[in-house]
This record gives sequence, structure tokens and C-alpha cells, in this order.
Amino acid sequence: MRQTINNLVVYTAGDIQNQAIIFVHGFPYDHNMWNKQVEYLSTNFFCVTYDIRGLGASEVGDGQYTMEQYAEDLFAIINKIGLKKPVLCGLSMGGYLSFRAIEINQSAFKGVIFCDTKSQSDTDEIKLIRANKIKQINDSGLDSFVESFVPTCFSENYQSTFAENYNKIKSLCKTNSPIGVKGALIAMLSRVDSTPFLNQINIPTLHLCGEFDQMTPPTLMEKIASQIANSQFLVVTKSGHMSPIENPDFVNTAIENFIQQIEETN
Ligand code: MLT
Repeated sequence: MRQTINNLVVYTAGDIQNQAIIFVHGFPYDHNMWNKQVEYLSTNFFCVTYDIRGLGASEVGDGQYTMEQYAEDLFAIINKIGLKKPVLCGLSMGGYLSFRAIEINQSAFKGVIFCDTKSQSDTDEIKLIRANKIKQINDSGLDSFVESFVPTCFSENYQSTFAENYNKIKSLCKTNSPIGVKGALIAMLSRVDSTPFLNQINIPTLHLCGEFDQMTPPTLMEKIASQIANSQFLVVTKSGHMSPIENPDFVNTAIENFIQQIEETN
């Protein structure tokens, strides 16, 4: 079912009586990146996906976003649908948002799945890279940015073996508003560092990282997971930065097992 909450498009699938999972997509993608998870997991879970403000079909507005506003949007969706302790699942930018959301109120969640992400905020070097990306969009257009950025997210194997799907994903990214994409870059570069909060996390967490992820490599994610009390870390085989798309079977099973374990220990 599609609905609009806070001018954001939100999709739900499955039985609302089941444990809810709310999925937060990465940059510059939209809710569609979770299609394989929703297809599989909605049999036993209530799955919620949405387009982050400024991306996909959600409101673009003036393009002035912060991670704080993204987090407010997430809580607004949870409250409006009436989700009780959903499991949160965020990839990369969606993971930054998830770290911030649990820092604000971890008791709102039963657990968190972090996919291909990190707790650290942007270094000065990364801020300058983001400034260049904004310049590239201004000077050469969004298509040029998408053509140079998206290949860095997927493993070479995925790009060649699943070329049709990969090209579809790139085309979808190009339909975003350039204002929304630039707004997301600024929201990411101005976010706070969640690393000091890691040792205060007291809900179960699962950390999934593609074996070929160059943006948030397994060594980095494993180190982050090791600073959290109740955490599990898994390397997703045959996958780059977009593990839920590149190896959905692995990710779906990992999510299912993680939630089952949480339910058994409750
Ligand atoms: C993402 O996948 O969400 C982005 O690569 C995150 C980033 O640019 O830091």
C-alpha cells in the first residue's frame, strides 16, 4: 500500500500484526533498493519502505535538509503508522540516519540492522569530495554525476552479470531531482559523529558488509560492531556496497535469523 506521510511517499507490505521492519535507503537511491527484501520478508514481517525527503517521489521542497530532519521524518512515519518497536534497517546514508535515530531514542526500536555504513561523520577530505560532487551536478548535470558515482557502489561482478538491472538502477537515480540529490549531500556532510554513542547502544544490532565494499569496507564495519555490546557482524559474499541488491538471498536470511534470535531472547 502506498501512502503519503509528511509529504513523503511510504509503502507498506504484509500483515500489520507481524513484527515491523522499517527500511531506510542509501544515496542516491530510493525505496526500490529494498524490493527483494520486501518481496521475501513481507510473508512474515510488516515491511515499511519510503523515499527519503528530496529523493525518489518524496517532496523536494527547497533542498535544505539535515540529518536531524531526516530522523524527524523517520519518527513521524513510525508514529503515523503506529509501529510498535520496529526493527530498523538502514544502508549507508540510511545507516547514518539509523545511527542518529537510535542516538535520539533507541528504546523506540527492537533492534537495528546496519548495512554497508559507518558511525563516523565526514572528514574534511570527504566534505571536499562532496563539494566537488555538488559542483559536478551544477556544471555537468545529474546524469554525469550518476554515471561516475553509481559504479563505485556496485561490485564489478554485479555490474557485468546483472547489467540490465544495474542499468535500470542507474536510470532510476537519474530521475531524482538535482536539488534533492545536492540537499542529501549537504545533509550527509553536516551530520554529527555517532561513534561516541556506540558504547551506549543497548539494543541488538546486526552489521552487514559486502566483501567488496570499498566505501565502507568490512574492516571498518567490523571495528564499529566490536564497540557495540550486543552486536553481530557478517560479511556479505559476492557483494560491493549495495549488499541488499547484490546478494539479496544472503541479506534476507541474515535479517530473518537476526529477528528470530531477538524474538527468542525476549
Ligand atoms: C550511500 O550509499 O548512501 C552513500 O554512498 C553514502 C555516502 O556517500 O556517504
